[in-house]
Amino acid sequence: MELIETIAAFGKTLDAERLAGRRVGLVPTMGYLHEGHAALVRQAAAECDVVAVTIFVNPLQFAAGEDLSSYPRDLDGDRRTAEAAGAEYLFVPEVTEMYPGEVHTTVSVAGESDGLEGASRPSHFAGVATVVAKLFNIAGPSRAYFGEKDWQQLQVVRRMVDDLSFPIEVVGCPIVRDGDGVALSSRNVYLSTTERAAAPVLRRALMAGRDALSNGRSPADAAALMAELISAEPLAQLDYAEVVGDRLLVAARFGTTRLIDNMGADR
Ligand code: PAJ
Repeated sequence: MELIETIAAFGKTLDAERLAGRRVGLVPTMGYLHEGHAALVRQAAAECDVVAVTIFVNPLQFAAGEDLSSYPRDLDGDRRTAEAAGAEYLFVPEVTEMYPGEVHTTVSVAGESDGLEGASRPSHFAGVATVVAKLFNIAGPSRAYFGEKDWQQLQVVRRMVDDLSFPIEVVGCPIVRDGDGVALSSRNVYLSTTERAAAPVLRRALMAGRDALSNGRSPADAAALMAELISAEPLAQLDYAEVVGDRLLVAARFGTTRLIDNMGADR
């Protein structure tokens, strides 16, 4: 696996791959890779000829007071994880490489960005859409892989790709969880032992909400039930519990750490 740090080198390398007739799979990440990321890379490797993983902690998607400066990093571990999962290239640009000056052009996806995460983090999805658009333009992938863990982000990216005619197939991948049901997240490392022990309440709430729906209860009832279960956990501070279409979604703070999770109504 080759480590690349500049946009020019990354673009040139993938140009050569495309010229040789190889389809590029792209896996955008912010690093501190875990099994959830590795699953995206493995699926990309199974479906594409070459796989490029990107690691970039994107300042544009963090609001003031969020965890930009403390976001966990482990480049050596990430190199091993990405390579073992089947990546050929690892793109790790500096902030000054991606954003050499002021950013005057951003991509915002109305509708899909509203509510849920968008309500708690107003400029977050414009930051995500902008960096993903840049990475798509730099890498020119045939397919790009995103986790259902960030369900709303996946909808935002799909909509951007449709609306702006990116010639890219967006592939959504299932949530990878720990043994106790907690969705893997780079941010789980922030949790204290007691907070980590309380975190499975999110998935328990989602399962209870899903069961309520399948027993004929209304989406509003299912959402209220999820909110009640999460609120009953002393270490969890509920942010939202909602049913949108056939998806159940929750977010809560455990101390200073904000966790999100979601589940399909039919699974
Ligand atoms: P990051 O949080 O590092 O996640 C990178 C990708 O891994 C996302 O598509 C996310 O949904 C997926 N992922 C994370 N945890 C997962 C899990 N437990 N199971 C399955 N997939 C999982 O999401 C971002 O980075 C950024 O917003 C990014 C898209 C890279 C733009 O900066």
